Amino acid sequence: MSSDEAAIPSDKSPVAPPRPKKKDAISLAEWDEMYRMGNPAWDIGRPSSEFVRVIEEGPIRPGRTLELGCGTGANAVHLALRKHEITAIDASPLAIERARLRCEQHNALIRFVRGDVFEFAKNAGRFQFVYDVGFYHFVRRFALERFLDLLWWVTEPGSYYLTLAGATGETAEGGPPQVSEDEIRWELGRLFEMVDLRPFRFESPNRSEGYLGWSCLMRRPVVNR
Ligand SMILES: C[S@@+](CC[C@H](N)C(=O)[O-])C[C@H]1O[C@@H](n2cnc3c(N)ncnc32)[C@H](O)[C@@H]1O
Repeated sequence: MSSDEAAIPSDKSPVAPPRPKKKDAISLAEWDEMYRMGNPAWDIGRPSSEFVRVIEEGPIRPGRTLELGCGTGANAVHLALRKHEITAIDASPLAIERARLRCEQHNALIRFVRGDVFEFAKNAGRFQFVYDVGFYHFVRRFALERFLDLLWWVTEPGSYYLTLAGATGETAEGGPPQVSEDEIRWELGRLFEMVDLRPFRFESPNRSEGYLGWSCLMRRPVVNR
């Protein structure tokens, strides 16, 4: 699908919010460098509590699953131990090395891919559940259309997509990039229908109260012909 075809207007948000200010892309080498310098602020060493809640309470059933930007793999391991057939991809060699180690320690089965998600998506096939914890919120600032195309290629009608993204609403130095509710609805609403959108708090070793986020679960509509 081309970027233009992705532009199906959302019925929930008839007026487009202002486009995010274009930011410079973070290079893949810079991501790896952040891991090399120690434990980055987002890497809490265990599955995100909100992610665990969605998996426990939500409609997602074990199946073909893809994690975009898996980091050191804590969320992927959580799912693999619950019988999901999971492919987890990250561009940072160091993050993937740590993720493989975590996987071994838990005796989990995960297909890890070290590489660029945009390249990978071209031949990846379709997944029933695709998720990211902290990927959409930064990539949208410089490659939103590419990212929507990617989501289109790796999902099929009925697939679920979950993103945990930083939320506007508080000034929080050192926190994740922030997205407003209108922006989420407008941008992701081009491909998916909303299942659940709720605020939560990102846990962080740097801040006891964490950072405000959106937990956004969506589903690709099934079109009846
Ligand atoms: C904010 S971190 C989140 C990591 C992980 N989801 C977590 O919560 O710990 C974003 C991750 O995306 C990875 N990343 C960034 N751009 C990428 C790309 N184009 N392809 C694959 N991974 C990428 C980075 O290496 C980093 O691990």
